[in-house]
Amino acid sequence: MKDLLTVAKDAALKAGKLLRDNVSGTREISYKGEINLVTEMDRLSEKTVVETLLAAFPGHGILAEEGGRIENSSGYIWIIDPLDGTTNYAHGYPNFAVSIGLEKDGEIVLGVVYDPLRDELFSAQKGQGAFLNNRPICVSGHDTLIRSLLATGFPYDRATSEKNNLNYFKALLMASQEVRRSGSASLDLCSVASGRLDGYWELKLHPWDVAAGSLIVTEAGGKVSDFSGVNFSIHDKEIVASNGKIHELMIEVLGKA
Ligand code: IPD
Ligand code: CA
Ligand code: CA
Repeated sequence: MKDLLTVAKDAALKAGKLLRDNVSGTREISYKGEINLVTEMDRLSEKTVVETLLAAFPGHGILAEEGGRIENSSGYIWIIDPLDGTTNYAHGYPNFAVSIGLEKDGEIVLGVVYDPLRDELFSAQKGQGAFLNNRPICVSGHDTLIRSLLATGFPYDRATSEKNNLNYFKALLMASQEVRRSGSASLDLCSVASGRLDGYWELKLHPWDVAAGSLIVTEAGGKVSDFSGVNFSIHDKEIVASNGKIHELMIEVLGKA
């Protein structure tokens, strides 16, 4: 069998190049909801990733954002966000990524996130540490919220749902050094993993937003949980990721917000 990580990296690099080469082109935009858009590049990127993975592993399963689904009994499912940060991409705002995670028998065992504009390839395999362009990375050392740089995002249904993150945003903005909103959940998670951010939280994400990034955080020495501070599943609708040292502090603030 071909090496899983080598093939995942190859798929992310190919799709990332496609996104980079077309970032300044005019593109067709359609809408999944009032503000949730999708470009033809999301679909082309997905096609590139899926074709590359299936050429190497024809028997594996697929769960990809833009519709790619293959269910089988192989035990392997590739979980793919072909363009994480699509609103950024559609506006030419330079922050987006390709995210590829691999679940084996229900557990995430591999993650790759590629930022094509910075040419940064984050990767991790279960139990083997986390890497940025093949160099080991680790989380930051800050242990107070007031010295911590955090990030978050807001769900697409924020105008119609009360669970729109504004209460949590206000509480953590007041308690921390600063809060960023980058528009790419997978890159936010990789920023926690590489110590550029100390913590991150968000609501209502999908498995493809977090499958790769959550493993990269834990393999870099960080912690990932739901808002109660314990379990995390990529199917959860809450995620808190941090350097571990501020985790309980974040959970406390979220619990009171
Ligand atoms: C989105 C991004 C964004 C997050 C959204 C996600 P998409 O993914 O990760 O940062 O706030 O909730 O849906 O739609 O660009 O793939
Ligand atoms: Ca996404
Ligand atoms: Ca996407």
